[in-house]
Amino acid sequence: MAEPFARIPYPFSARDPMRKSAKLLITGGSGFLGRHVVTEFARHGWSNLFAPRRVDYDLTQPAQVAQLFRCHRPRVVVHLAAQVGGIEANRRHPGTFLYKNLMMGANLLEACRRFGCDKVVVIGTICSYPKFTPVPFKEEDFWNGYPEETNAPYGLAKKLVGLQLQTYHQEFGLKGVYLLPVNLYGPGDNFDLTTSHVIPALIRKCVEAKENGSRQVTIWGTGKPTREFLYVADAARAIRLATEKLNTPEPLNIGSGKEISIADLARRIAEKVGFDGELVFDPTRPDGQPRRCLDVSKARRLLDFEAKTSLDEGLEKTIQWYFRHRQTDLVAA
Ligand SMILES: NC(=O)c1ccc[n+]([C@@H]2O[C@H](COP(=O)([O-])OP(=O)(O)OC[C@H]3O[C@@H](n4cnc5c(N)ncnc54)[C@H](OP(=O)(O)O)[C@@H]3O)[C@@H](O)[C@H]2O)c1
Repeated sequence: MAEPFARIPYPFSARDPMRKSAKLLITGGSGFLGRHVVTEFARHGWSNLFAPRRVDYDLTQPAQVAQLFRCHRPRVVVHLAAQVGGIEANRRHPGTFLYKNLMMGANLLEACRRFGCDKVVVIGTICSYPKFTPVPFKEEDFWNGYPEETNAPYGLAKKLVGLQLQTYHQEFGLKGVYLLPVNLYGPGDNFDLTTSHVIPALIRKCVEAKENGSRQVTIWGTGKPTREFLYVADAARAIRLATEKLNTPEPLNIGSGKEISIADLARRIAEKVGFDGELVFDPTRPDGQPRRCLDVSKARRLLDFEAKTSLDEGLEKTIQWYFRHRQTDLVAA
């Protein structure tokens, strides 16, 4: 087997040497959010963290998960690994999204229980909220209904893992945290148009249209739905704070608390990349959930967490990153 993990050396924190030297497993640590999370923990004194790749341990396979825990004995686990994608990827592969996300979470929590981890932090998603949740979404409405259809298999798989965490807490005393980050964006995002989320897709389409001299960019859906976005480094900070401060498995929203329509977002991105052609909305394509905006007061109260990066600043950093990296394999064709 290949070198099983990327180990990141970091000096012990003088303030809390015991806890921050605990062996910390970050699943999905090489992904978009994962890279920022690994950096965030390392910068804040977590000295013994490791982030295995899928080729080393496929988390959908119970035997490989057990082997991972047997070999490395993590004390704290942050579970980010997932099969993710935009509306089209979810529509094309609903069974895969359901099966893989469910299996990864179930196997991992079972191993945390069996091997007696001190704490597990599970990253859920706001795609698990019911389709018509009143805005702003409050944590107490989380269990009240079926998610929006296009992302329901993904959302429900991750929701069941949240339920598993709650039941393992009740029955076995497993300490856990269940976070619900809103839509993320930022440097390192996925710009492959077949699997990307809305911000990288819009950036890429507008940049390519400008460069090709095209006068139109077509955008999926009516442009009317609203979304909330959180800069990825802010999300990573929330995850570290929750790992250090929280012990409750009830869902906790992580977001910026600011809502914007897809049409306004598209106009803002077009302006920032200098595309002055027409934005054409294609209502034959699905809109997804009608509105998304979180009540973030609980995270403010429990974690003292607030998003620091404004949408304008975050978009500019993301666009700059895209220009610097688009010729590399970090940005898929
Ligand atoms: N991106 C968002 O807007 C957003 C919003 C809310 C919540 N989230 C949640 O945040 C987490 C990270 O998302 P992301 O956008 O960073 O995704 P990503 O870039 O696609 O990264 C996914 C990670 O999961 C790992 N992985 C996938 N299948 C695996 C398997 N079978 N076994 C082991 N590892 C596996 C991948 O490892 P390899 O690289 O080794 O293949 C990769 O590191 C997910 O739980 C997602 O649901 C994301």
